[in-house]
Amino acid sequence: MRKIKVGVLGGSRGKTMMEYAVKSDECELAAVCDFNGEVLASLKTFFAEKGCSVALYDDFDKFLSCGIEAVVLANYANEHAPFAVRCLNGGLHVLSEVLPVATLREAALLADAVEASGKVYRYAENYCFSRATREMTRLFRSGELGDFEYAEGEYMHNCEGGWGELTRFSRDHWRNRMDAFYYSTHSCGPVLHATGLRPVSVTGFEVPYNAKTSRMGCSATPFAVEMVTLENGGLLKSLHGIAPSRNSVWYCMYGSKGKFESGREGIGKGTDEVSISLDGVTGEAYKTYTPGDELSDLAETYGHGGSDFFTMRSFLRAVRGEEDDGIGLFEALDMHFVGHFAHISSVRGGVPVAIPDFRDPAVRARCRDDDASVFRPGNDFSQNPVSRYPTPSYPDSLYEEQRAAHEKALADLAAQKQG
Ligand SMILES: NC(=O)c1ccc[n+]([C@@H]2O[C@H](COP(=O)([O-])OP(=O)(O)OC[C@H]3O[C@@H](n4cnc5c(N)ncnc54)[C@H](O)[C@@H]3O)[C@@H](O)[C@H]2O)c1
Repeated sequence: MRKIKVGVLGGSRGKTMMEYAVKSDECELAAVCDFNGEVLASLKTFFAEKGCSVALYDDFDKFLSCGIEAVVLANYANEHAPFAVRCLNGGLHVLSEVLPVATLREAALLADAVEASGKVYRYAENYCFSRATREMTRLFRSGELGDFEYAEGEYMHNCEGGWGELTRFSRDHWRNRMDAFYYSTHSCGPVLHATGLRPVSVTGFEVPYNAKTSRMGCSATPFAVEMVTLENGGLLKSLHGIAPSRNSVWYCMYGSKGKFESGREGIGKGTDEVSISLDGVTGEAYKTYTPGDELSDLAETYGHGGSDFFTMRSFLRAVRGEEDDGIGLFEALDMHFVGHFAHISSVRGGVPVAIPDFRDPAVRARCRDDDASVFRPGNDFSQNPVSRYPTPSYPDSLYEEQRAAHEKALADLAAQKQG
């Protein structure tokens, strides 16, 4: 098999993709780019220990022209689209981490670039590929669940522990500036991918700021709910957030022939297990089992319960021109628009908002000048607030205290190891 020369932009989360590229026979990890000197230094050690020769860059332009064929974008979540466009225009295939775009204008420009370049664009929405969500996809696509009627997806992540480190103790980090709806694709994505149904309208709800968000210093409210109508009239409830009191990853789907439900993170085997009750298969009874196929065990060795294996594998198959079950641009935009338009719905007081279909160039053209985003430096927060609730202003000392607490924890750990 010809090894595809891959580069990775962003050396934190990007390390998971680097691990894949180093292990796999399908590609060669040729280059990594990160403008953070500490990240590059730790990668240098990492590759030396593995005995791998990988070119390290701190400059994106040099990285772009170093002879790679395909790029994994694991840079800041609100900056993927401009880098994707530059890569596609430069003749490179792109696998983008979540989220695909920050604004509708970026979505239109990205769609233009994908179509004009003819290169592969895939979206690394890895929650579509856990044991449970792959089984949900299989059951739906085989017809065993029947027609789609209703589903729920949850990605509740209590991020308070480690939040300072995740946001590099900066109020300007994207995790501190995003709205509660932005990170929506882990919860709604698996249902959209399984069914192939397009979301056509959404209503957004969010809970008020709480003590946890005050300690974290984030702009987002703790968590958000999207009620989505799909193109066949079926409904999807998507629940996600960064500051709930407990974690939960969980999915369920009701079809006309029965029900699928995953285990819930933190209870039993979590999303390694599923329960089904299907006409003609289990009758009214529930059957609980650990789904799996020939790829599941191999996938487990690649992180995030195996799901990262599938996003990289599908991307490389697509680059080779082979059939793949990856997520293309328009599906990625469908997933992302659930959160984008739910945010608009919430700040308008919970009115339903239509979700445009960017497959249609005329629809795309109508949205081309809409560059509104809470991430934009000139954003008018009176017109486009982060939340329907007034966003608290946090003192600089909050982020300094988070750094001090982190440094103390590291020093205590080092002292414990010595003692
Ligand atoms: N799918 C998942 O399960 C999952 C999990 C974690 C993170 N992510 C995604 O991965 C991405 C990165 O998140 P993260 O956790 O690594 O945190 P992060 O966003 O803080 O890190 C981004 C890294 O990219 C580097 N970087 C950013 N812009 C750059 C540029 N222009 N040139 C060179 N280097 C640049 C930064 O120095 C940093 O090391 C985000 O998009 C996030 O949404 C996905």
